[in-house]
Amino acid sequence: MTDDSSPYDPTSPLHAPLHTPPSASLLRPDPVATIDELIDRLGAQDYIVDRRLATVLFLALRMQRPLFLEGEAGVGKTELAKATAAALGTTLIRLQCYEGLDIQQAAYEWNAGRQLVEIRLAEALHETNRERLVRDIYRREMLIERPLLRALTQPVAPVLLIDELDRADEPFEAFLLEVLAEYQLTIPELGAIRAAHPPIVIITSNRTREIRDALKRRCLYHWVAFPNAERELRIVHRRAPGASDALARQAVDVVQRMRRLDLFKAPGVAETIDWANALIALNVLALEPDAVRDTLGVLLKYQEDIDTMLDGEGAELMRLLREATMTQAGGEAA
Ligand SMILES: Nc1ncnc2c1ncn2[C@@H]1O[C@H](COP(=O)(O)OP(=O)(O)OP(=O)(O)O)[C@@H](O)[C@H]1O
Ligand SMILES: [Mg+2]
Repeated sequence: MTDDSSPYDPTSPLHAPLHTPPSASLLRPDPVATIDELIDRLGAQDYIVDRRLATVLFLALRMQRPLFLEGEAGVGKTELAKATAAALGTTLIRLQCYEGLDIQQAAYEWNAGRQLVEIRLAEALHETNRERLVRDIYRREMLIERPLLRALTQPVAPVLLIDELDRADEPFEAFLLEVLAEYQLTIPELGAIRAAHPPIVIITSNRTREIRDALKRRCLYHWVAFPNAERELRIVHRRAPGASDALARQAVDVVQRMRRLDLFKAPGVAETIDWANALIALNVLALEPDAVRDTLGVLLKYQEDIDTMLDGEGAELMRLLREATMTQAGGEAA
């Protein structure tokens, strides 16, 4: 136990880590030598990454800098953190942000129950040394680790996913700065706890509000865009393996065209995968307009967008699909 101003001292028995020290070979997650190796390793986890995102992730790993990802919903931001942890053979620690998220839920909490027991014990033993009592109830073992603190105290650098930061309040962002810049957390009663093995930090935002520059400056940034048709097809093949190549191609083509329409919420990659799986479940072998119409709710989640597809701008897309189906049927009959 130290006073408010003294730093956390890992050699002090009071500040001993809660886990046993790991052997040297366990200290780091698998290193990645090249961007190509990173692309392959993510691919082995069924995550199909483009070279620009792979490059910025590679740099984040090399430079020990947090990676800040923004993008539309369902484009693979959260999944990248999961795939990275699996690809590097390390653990994923996830902090899901929401309005009102506070330090007790995000970082640490004093174990009030245990503290009370200590106080009762001290009373029973007629302990009169207040200083010692305070020291005892604010010692390291009395801390309950929440995701941020847990990420700083792991024997192997974990991946720390701070998901949907835009949902948290701005004061929480200010609190995060110390963690992201120094890989440490200052606990007033205990001092600063610094990570021996800095976590690999991935932050995501859906941009419902702007994240402050002070935080962005500490990170590398990437906007996760919708994939092009070629990459989306590879993703569908991996994530909906039951779809034939022809069906997957048609589904991806329709979704790519849909994204060019003026929709309130364009379908993400997650929706394309869901759609392919829905078509498989319905035994659809080739896309035709009826099958598209009946399953639009898998892709679009706003009635206005469904109307756009059926009666508005999207009607042209349906017409093209009908023509293609007829041409195909004619070709097969000939
Ligand atoms: N590049 C990709 N490779 C493989 N699968 C992907 C890829 N991108 C997205 N997916 C699939 O899409 C699903 C949704 O992705 P994810 O949940 O990561 O999106 P998100 O960007 O975090 O969305 P949200 O903003 O709604 O949280 C994943 O479970 C995964 O199956
Ligand atoms: Mg997400």
